[in-house]
Amino acid sequence: MSMLKFVATALATAASVNAACSASATLTVQNAGDASAISSCSTYSGSIAIATGTSDPINFPSVKKITGDLTISNAPNLTSVGADSLQEIGGAFEVNNDQILNTLNFPQLTAAGTINFQALPNLPLLGFSSNVAKTRSLNIQNTFLNTLDGINLQQVDDIYIANNRLLQDISFQVSTIKQSLILESNGDRLSASFPNLISASNLTFRNCPSVSIPSLHNVTGSLGFYENTFESLAAPNLTTIGGTLAVNTNDNLKNITFPVLKTIGGGFQVQNNTQLKDGTFSSVESIGGALDFYGAFSTVSLPALKDCRGAFNLQSTDDVTDSCNVFGKEKGPNNVIKGKYQCAGKLAKAGNAGTTPTNSGASSTKSGDAGNLRIPASAAAGLTGVLAAIFGML
Ligand SMILES: *[C@@H]1O[C@H](CO)[C@@H](O)[C@H](O)[C@H]1NC(C)=O
Ligand SMILES: *[C@@H]1O[C@H](CO)[C@@H](O)[C@H](O)[C@H]1NC(C)=O
Ligand SMILES: *[C@@H]1O[C@H](CO)[C@@H](O)[C@H](O)[C@H]1NC(C)=O
Ligand SMILES: *[C@@H]1O[C@H](CO)[C@@H](O)[C@H](O)[C@H]1NC(C)=O
Ligand SMILES: *[C@@H]1O[C@H](CO)[C@@H](O)[C@H](O)[C@H]1NC(C)=O
Ligand SMILES: *[C@@H]1O[C@H](CO)[C@@H](O)[C@H](O)[C@H]1NC(C)=O
Repeated sequence: MSMLKFVATALATAASVNAACSASATLTVQNAGDASAISSCSTYSGSIAIATGTSDPINFPSVKKITGDLTISNAPNLTSVGADSLQEIGGAFEVNNDQILNTLNFPQLTAAGTINFQALPNLPLLGFSSNVAKTRSLNIQNTFLNTLDGINLQQVDDIYIANNRLLQDISFQVSTIKQSLILESNGDRLSASFPNLISASNLTFRNCPSVSIPSLHNVTGSLGFYENTFESLAAPNLTTIGGTLAVNTNDNLKNITFPVLKTIGGGFQVQNNTQLKDGTFSSVESIGGALDFYGAFSTVSLPALKDCRGAFNLQSTDDVTDSCNVFGKEKGPNNVIKGKYQCAGKLAKAGNAGTTPTNSGASSTKSGDAGNLRIPASAAAGLTGVLAAIFGML
């Protein structure tokens, strides 16, 4: 065979291999045979979806990369999907609403464009033994996963992990979360640990029994802790929050430690943590929005405060006379607090800035609350007007 003829044959073979290894339409896999048909492809250029009627265990042997999406969704009779050599999925890795799926075996997988796993009641674990380290977005909801072993992100923009009731451990090595992290309603013993996380945009922790963020240095957006069950909360290295800091309705919270937090660009809320007595933030210098604290505080202290741009509300069911005396000066002579001011203790009910403090009864009238509660000038003027009218009538 001439050299030319040989080259031509080789090219033809390569072309036919390539034809099987790419498609503009999504390749739909109905059974084990369809999956093995692409086994000669090291890279599959395009997207692959498992058909909803599939019941065969599916394995994609040899394929190292899928450039598009891999979709495994709405297949009620599917039990198992694997790809022994797959290292990367360029697009979305979607596994959604597969009632009896119990095995995902991707031992070489380390990256996917996005990951979206939802409604998987029979999947206990992820067979990703090389660890997925890179994805733009991780979304895991309503699964019975009891571990995320197999995902250890180093790079991610967005994480949403919610309603995975058996999940008791989340630990990622990630150092930067470019957009947001939301954890909500996972296992009742969940330990959430981000040992290397330094910077993030938005962070929200809801219903978490334990949160560890030892390295967190700055949050450019907002940081919120809502309805968690931990007793103490510490952010030992956190200096700056661009948006709002909220620590609200954490029923067991007794101890809060943000020792180096200096700047809060938005509002600052510490609300309705019924066991929290001490609200001391030793380094906070500036608050761009309003400070709105209420609960059962006996002490609130912001000794470094230089500027609070918005309103100031502190309401407590306990006695905060000493704290109010200090803040009264910050509002008055020192002009540190720029907005509307109210500070009151021994209240029957402590509420947010939108509520007027209500006293618990005669015993509290001497608490000095009335002295600390500044009636806005406009209201005082109105009152004078009413009195003048009454006296004028007499
Ligand atoms: C799943 O299997 C059952 C029982 O064989 C069958 O009746 C049903 O149609 C299958 N579902 C789909 C979506 O193929
Ligand atoms: C951060 O949270 C705020 C308030 O919920 C929202 O408006 C903003 O879009 C979020 N930013 C990102 C990057 O998720
Ligand atoms: C806290 O920040 C300091 C200074 O930026 C750094 O040296 C230290 O390693 C950080 N600690 C943790 C646990 O990341
Ligand atoms: C947040 O921290 C990162 C990493 O330390 C740094 O590059 C960035 O400039 C910081 N941003 C702000 C607003 O402090
Ligand atoms: C509060 O937490 C900090 C840091 O976690 C700890 O050093 C301190 O001892 C705790 N204080 C109390 C009263 O539990
Ligand atoms: C305050 O906390 C209690 C107890 O956890 C809860 O029932 C209530 O809804 C919370 N109130 C607000 C305004 O969040």
